[in-house]
Amino acid sequence: MNNVLLEDRIYVTQPLLPELSEFNEHLKDIWDSKCLTNMGSKHNELESKLREVLKVPYVSLFNNGTIALLTAIKAMDLPYGSEVITTPFTFAATPHCISWNGLKPVFCDIEPETMTIDANKIEDLITPNTSAILGVHVYGFPCDVYKIEKIAKKYNLKVIYDAAHAFSTEIDGKGIGTFGDISMFSFHATKLFNTVEGGCLTYNNPDLVNKIYNLRNFGIRSEELVEDVGINGKLDEIRSVIGLLNLKLYSDEQEKRAIIKDYYDSKLSRIKGIKIPKMPENTTDSYQYYPIIIEEEFPISRNELYEKFKAFNIFTRKYFYPICTDYECYKNNPSVKPFDLPVVNDYKNKVLCLPYYGTLKLDELDFICGIIEDV
Ligand SMILES: Cc1ncc(COP(=O)(O)O)c(C=O)c1O
Repeated sequence: MNNVLLEDRIYVTQPLLPELSEFNEHLKDIWDSKCLTNMGSKHNELESKLREVLKVPYVSLFNNGTIALLTAIKAMDLPYGSEVITTPFTFAATPHCISWNGLKPVFCDIEPETMTIDANKIEDLITPNTSAILGVHVYGFPCDVYKIEKIAKKYNLKVIYDAAHAFSTEIDGKGIGTFGDISMFSFHATKLFNTVEGGCLTYNNPDLVNKIYNLRNFGIRSEELVEDVGINGKLDEIRSVIGLLNLKLYSDEQEKRAIIKDYYDSKLSRIKGIKIPKMPENTTDSYQYYPIIIEEEFPISRNELYEKFKAFNIFTRKYFYPICTDYECYKNNPSVKPFDLPVVNDYKNKVLCLPYYGTLKLDELDFICGIIEDV
C-alpha cells in the first residue's frame, strides 16, 4: 500500500469551488451595485436558473436548508401540536424543524433497499392527529413518492420532502422537487451543489409563492405592510454568486463521481459482506454520497472498519449514527421502541459513507478499496 497517503488526510467529501478569479469578477458587480442582499440580481438569476436545473415550476432560495425546511413546514399551516410522520434515518435538522414548528415527529421505520421512510408502514402510524408526512430522499435515494401520494390523498395529509441529498435527481424524468406539496434542497458546503451555506424550496402551487416570500422576509410585503409572522431566510448576493458559478461545475463533478462510483462498484461488489445499495431504475443519481452496508458476513464490524480507515487518515462517515430516535430529545417519543423500528436500528450500525469527490485520485481509490479487500 502507498504510505504517502497516510500523511494526507482523506475526508468523505471536498467542496466544489469555482475559480477565485471568476468569483472576483462577480464580486466587482456586487461592489459596484452596492446591493448585498434582499433579493438582488444575483439571487434572482440563481433562482430562475435553478428552476431549469431542478425542473420545477417554483424555487425560493434560502440562507440554509434548515431555515428553508422550517419555513416549508410553516407554510403548510398544519394544526399546532399535530403529528408529522417522518424517518429517523436523517440529519438532526429534519425532526428538529418539525419540533420547532410546535408539531410532533412520529418516527416510521425505513425500507431496506433505499433506506427511505417505509411507505408500507406509514398507515399504521396515522391517527386523527396526523397532519403530514415528511420523507427524506436520503443519499439521493427517492422515497416511494407514488405510494406516499396515495396515502396522503386517502387521509388528507400534506407531503413535505427533505431533498437535501437529491440535487438534480429525477424520477421518471420529472424533477424530484415536483413531488409532494413542497421540497427542500440544501446547498451546504458538503453538498454536491453548494452556495457555502444555502438552500431552497421547490413547489408546484402558485399560491405558495407570496406566502413563502413573506415567511422568508419577516412577513414584510412592502415598506408599510407586514403580512405574516416571518423569519429571516434570505440568501445574500455573495453566496448567490458562488451558486451561479457552481451551477457551471456540478454536472462535471457528477461525471467524475460516476466514474468513481463505477470503480468502487466493480471492486467492492465482489466482496462478501459488503452490500452496495442500488438506485431504482426510474431514478437518476445525484452522486451525493457513496454508502455501503457492512453485513454480518463481513469479518469486522462497521465501527471496526471505520476505525481502521481512520488509522490510515481516511475519514469515512457513519452517516447516520446515532439516528434521530437515539437523541435524548426524541428517545422517549411514543413511536420509538426498538422493536417498532427494526430496520433502521439494524442499519444504523452497518452503513458507512466512503470518500466521494471528483478530485479523488486513482491511487487513493485503490488504497481505500485495498483496506476493505485486506480485511
Ligand atoms: C437530510 C438533511 N436535511 C437537512 C439538512 C440541513 O441543511 P443545512 O445544513 O443546509 O441547514 C441536511 C444537511 O446539511 C441534511 O443532510
